[in-house]
Amino acid sequence: MNSQIISRVIPAIRMLTSQHQVMVARFDDRSELVNAENHTDLIKLEFIKKESEILIVDETSEPEEIIDDLQVKLSAWFDSKAKQPDYILLKGIGIIAIAQSASELDLLLGSSNQNTKAQNGRVQNKIIIVTGGAQGFGGGIAELLYAQGANVVIADLNQETGEQMVATLNAHNQTNQAYFVKVNVANAESVEAMVAETVKHFGGLDAIISNAGILRAGGLDEMSAETFSLMTDVNYTGYFLCAKYGSAVMKTQSHYKSDYFTDIIQINSKSGLKGSNRNFAYAGGKFGGIGLTQSFAMELMPYRIKVNSICPGNFFEGPLWSDPQKGLFVQYLKAGKVPGAKEIKDVKAFYEAQVPAGRGCRVIDVIRAIFYVMEQEYETGQAVPVTGGQNMLN
Ligand SMILES: NC(=O)c1ccc[n+]([C@@H]2O[C@H](COP(=O)([O-])OP(=O)(O)OC[C@H]3O[C@@H](n4cnc5c(N)ncnc54)[C@H](O)[C@@H]3O)[C@@H](O)[C@H]2O)c1
Repeated sequence: MNSQIISRVIPAIRMLTSQHQVMVARFDDRSELVNAENHTDLIKLEFIKKESEILIVDETSEPEEIIDDLQVKLSAWFDSKAKQPDYILLKGIGIIAIAQSASELDLLLGSSNQNTKAQNGRVQNKIIIVTGGAQGFGGGIAELLYAQGANVVIADLNQETGEQMVATLNAHNQTNQAYFVKVNVANAESVEAMVAETVKHFGGLDAIISNAGILRAGGLDEMSAETFSLMTDVNYTGYFLCAKYGSAVMKTQSHYKSDYFTDIIQINSKSGLKGSNRNFAYAGGKFGGIGLTQSFAMELMPYRIKVNSICPGNFFEGPLWSDPQKGLFVQYLKAGKVPGAKEIKDVKAFYEAQVPAGRGCRVIDVIRAIFYVMEQEYETGQAVPVTGGQNMLN
């Protein structure tokens, strides 16, 4: 299936079948589904639900023709039926299952029959990608979004930790689900594939949280051109790529559902608001990120896609600072960066004292800012500080 069909047809189907609530959808191109011609061929397959409602679309490879045909057929469908089709067969391409929740999609495609717990969370049923979602801020954000009902795509370079996180979340057996996709956010093809995988698995995209980031501190004498480029590729270009491929799907959704808002959210930093001594490669990329946010916001608001950055203060409890081997506290203690510090707790106390709130930023602080921007319909292009008062806007 070509990428045009994925980024155009599946999100269009999701919105066109969303009458009373926004649905989720899953694409399946097992050979027996690609070869199916009609209702009888499908019902013969063991995993297809027997008393299901199926809509069939004739073979064509042009996304616009498929959508035009579907619009006519779905409009006639809803004239006579209250419920959406369970399956749409795109002849020669595959099947799209449509349901109210991810666990129901599993039932429609024969992959599980677990008992699931329904809930009514703050982001219930939304489809949200969190890049760098395997650990740190991203891991915590993914966990809290899942707890509030979102279908979360944990997209990370680190497959092992990312898959563990997905298994831990899905063990809660909620109707929403987590899903892992391996990605390198610095690589265009990889980010395009991440968005395509999300659409195939859940049917669309409601928010992308561009969180993956790296930090290699160093002054001008120490910073190599290679390290500078690597940081810029991940922290700056990675955000552009997420916005580019994510917004393509969101635009399609906005076209087929006139009151629907979606979000692109960058996890920036207080270093995107104020220079950072001997840490310019990081601060420069983060400052640039705010320029992207403001510019994307202008371009995308006509499609009801809001674009905002969130600028957290230091996450002292996360691995970047607290890792016992390579965390910044250990590094700063060894380097004697904090005068008079004898133990890690002295280094920590030194940094905590710089925050009016007296502590580091936590995931709960960041998620509150995420909910703020997602729940708004009248805010875009902002850089929201979450710094305990350490950085204040002018
Ligand atoms: N930790 C802090 O104090 C702090 C403060 C403010 C802002 N931030 C920002 O929060 C975000 C997360 O930081 P963190 O401290 O939680 O980081 P972390 O190092 O704990 O986690 C980052 C995650 O991103 C993944 N990752 C790294 N490069 C990637 C790539 N190219 N493609 C895909 N995934 C990749 C890693 O595998 C890891 O799982 C970053 O954007 C960072 O700039 C962090």
